[in-house]
Amino acid sequence: MEISDNGIKISASLLGCDLSKAGEEAERALKAGADWIHVDVMDGSFVENISYGAPFQKALKGDFFKDTHLMVSRPDRQIKFFAESGSNMITFHTESDSDIEQTIGLIHDAGIMAGLSIKPNTPAEAVLPYLHKVEMILVMTVEPGYGGQGFLDFTLPKVTQIREYARKVNPSLMIQVDGGINPETAPLAIRAGADVLVSGSCLFKAEDMSKMVEKLKKG
Ligand code: DX5
Ligand code: ZN
Repeated sequence: MEISDNGIKISASLLGCDLSKAGEEAERALKAGADWIHVDVMDGSFVENISYGAPFQKALKGDFFKDTHLMVSRPDRQIKFFAESGSNMITFHTESDSDIEQTIGLIHDAGIMAGLSIKPNTPAEAVLPYLHKVEMILVMTVEPGYGGQGFLDFTLPKVTQIREYARKVNPSLMIQVDGGINPETAPLAIRAGADVLVSGSCLFKAEDMSKMVEKLKKG
């Protein structure tokens, strides 16, 4: 189904899918109109959970945009593995133990896009110095670690603050929100200034996935 293009992208988080057939689930999401596939990487250290790593991503066949979200303590050590495993964009956290500038450099040197993320309680100021150096900022709208959590709306003013600041320093900056996105929260995020919405449980559990993509994009 063709959806009128309002510039909003949907990144489908595989954390919400049936992992026993992740490749098919990714294809299902893309056919339903999702733009990107979001691969959530957790190391049991930065967050308590462990999800999957580069070999999992590599096993996802198909020519689609892989949006890798590293929730790991040392993202700098992972860049080469994920770049070799097909990432088109790698996003890592300001709260990690890696040097931010250096890690952005490693991602760009691998020829792919870089994203920088903040957890719900990290102020927007943590990413403002880097807005002109990355392609995307990810504002977490839940505590990283688990899918299926409730949206934290106190994070929205940060989206607006980053969007306003980016108008001056990087007008083409993408702002992604991740966690608890559904038809009620998507419009709030879009109004605040987000243009890439990650959706896991809501999307993969939807009765009609195409309709859900359309609803989320419309805002
Ligand atoms: C949370 C992950 C999110 C999350 C999204 O740590 O980064 O990508 O799985 O899932 P839902 O849409 O279910 O909140
Ligand atoms: Zn994520």
